[in-house]
Amino acid sequence: MLKNIFDTHAHYDDEDFLLDLDDVLTSLELKGVCGVINNAANMESARQSIKLAEKYANIWAAVGVHPHDVKDMTDADIDELREMSKHKKVVAIGEIGLDYHYNFSAQDVQIKWFERQLELANELGLPVFIHDREAHADTLELLKKHRPKGVIHCFSGSVEMAREILNLGMYIGLGGAVTFKNAKTPVEVARYVPLDRLLLETDAPYMTPVPFRGKRCTSDLIAYTAEKIATEKNISAQELCDATKNNTLTLFSKIEKF
Ligand code: NI
Repeated sequence: MLKNIFDTHAHYDDEDFLLDLDDVLTSLELKGVCGVINNAANMESARQSIKLAEKYANIWAAVGVHPHDVKDMTDADIDELREMSKHKKVVAIGEIGLDYHYNFSAQDVQIKWFERQLELANELGLPVFIHDREAHADTLELLKKHRPKGVIHCFSGSVEMAREILNLGMYIGLGGAVTFKNAKTPVEVARYVPLDRLLLETDAPYMTPVPFRGKRCTSDLIAYTAEKIATEKNISAQELCDATKNNTLTLFSKIEKF
């Protein structure tokens, strides 16, 4: 069994975990998962993420507002995020970004609050979790403008875009999508990204890897993603988990080394 699996991106405050959250989270360690960063979707989710981090030793929190929900965002929310960031287990601002697939918030509104949250992260010296769906050009432009530390979560861009992200000093997050049958570009990206700039993630309860696609995702299923990426990189899955855990502790420096 693999050890040192660090899931840098999950959503355990999602309603899919309402009935058995404690069972799921207390069993993760037995399945080789050494840590999870719970990413917020909106302000209430950020508050819940902190509660989870307070309750479970191996959970940390990212606080921020997802592009779907920025239509309701206010200046007071930025102030509350700033206060939340003082918590010792709040290790990043996220997830934030642009989603031009759904456009649940108008694009100009998405850009405005993405920039405000990038500025906040830079002010606080915290890394960011970036959500970029069908918004590669604008995302890249704003990252070049603000130069945050952080990771593009569930990276869906080309090798060319990955190269630009790496040039900005950022990390690439890969999850279940690399195992999907038609996953040509994510697999090319997995091969291309150097081992010291890669992070593993689930996006649980979403993005469940093959062979469990269609079922609810939990952090232990990273094992399937890790096997796939490791094969592409010609290393063992354990080497990959060890390296990506180290990367996680390097990028999210508020997590004490363990
Ligand atoms: Ni997510």
